Amino acid sequence: MELLEAVSSRISARAFLDTPVSKDIVYKILDHARLAPSGSNMQPCHIHAVAGEARERLIEKALAYAAEHPMGNVQSEYQSSPRNFINPYKSRRFACGMALYSALDIDRKDKAAREKQLMQNFYFFGAPVGLIFSMHRSLMPGQLGDMGILMGNVMLIAREYGLHSCAQGFWQDVQPAIREVLDIPEDYYIYNGISLGYLDENHAANKVNPGREPVEQFTEFVGF
Ligand SMILES: Cc1cc2nc3c(=O)[nH]c(=O)nc-3n(C[C@H](O)[C@H](O)[C@H](O)COP(=O)(O)O)c2cc1C
Repeated sequence: MELLEAVSSRISARAFLDTPVSKDIVYKILDHARLAPSGSNMQPCHIHAVAGEARERLIEKALAYAAEHPMGNVQSEYQSSPRNFINPYKSRRFACGMALYSALDIDRKDKAAREKQLMQNFYFFGAPVGLIFSMHRSLMPGQLGDMGILMGNVMLIAREYGLHSCAQGFWQDVQPAIREVLDIPEDYYIYNGISLGYLDENHAANKVNPGREPVEQFTEFVGF
């Protein structure tokens, strides 16, 4: 697959087929993705790739943890949403949620239906493989950019193997459960996940087109 085709065909997939993904394919994706640049080549990210029974246990523990610590009420060390949420970012986030709910025919006032959809995050949206990204706390938040680049590589290289993905900041809120199941030490911060699998092409959740701002909106060309 050409690079630009991979870039334009990547979407945040929120419904996957239950077709298994072999360890060999996951390994190959990570073997290419590891060539991502990182500050001073520190290569700060750690990945846990989970499938099968480990995935099941993770889901079970995360659900149990969330039942006792409702999502959204968790005090995050590194807050993922700003306290003072200004536009245009606030409105873009709103539009992003609305695009998904509209594709799924969920009324925005239907809190139960919205929560049910949010819960899909716990199940990696049905993907058979989940990747959990962590980093030693001493490198937080400075090296988070490195994590973003590595995640971007994973999601694009996944396209080469016919796979789709969805990044999931969601997992930050259930860190203790992940830590327990995957035996991740306290001095590692769990920041993101990626669902990885084969796209359920017919599912409405995958028909969302969140759109993007044009180049002129976010770029000043200086000195050309
Ligand atoms: C770091 C990061 C974290 C994200 N976390 C979540 C998440 O927890 N759940 C989710 O459904 N989508 C998540 N997304 C997906 C974004 O909502 C999505 O990238 C954005 O709406 C643009 O849509 P697209 O990826 O389909 O182009 C995340 C994306 C990124 C880059």
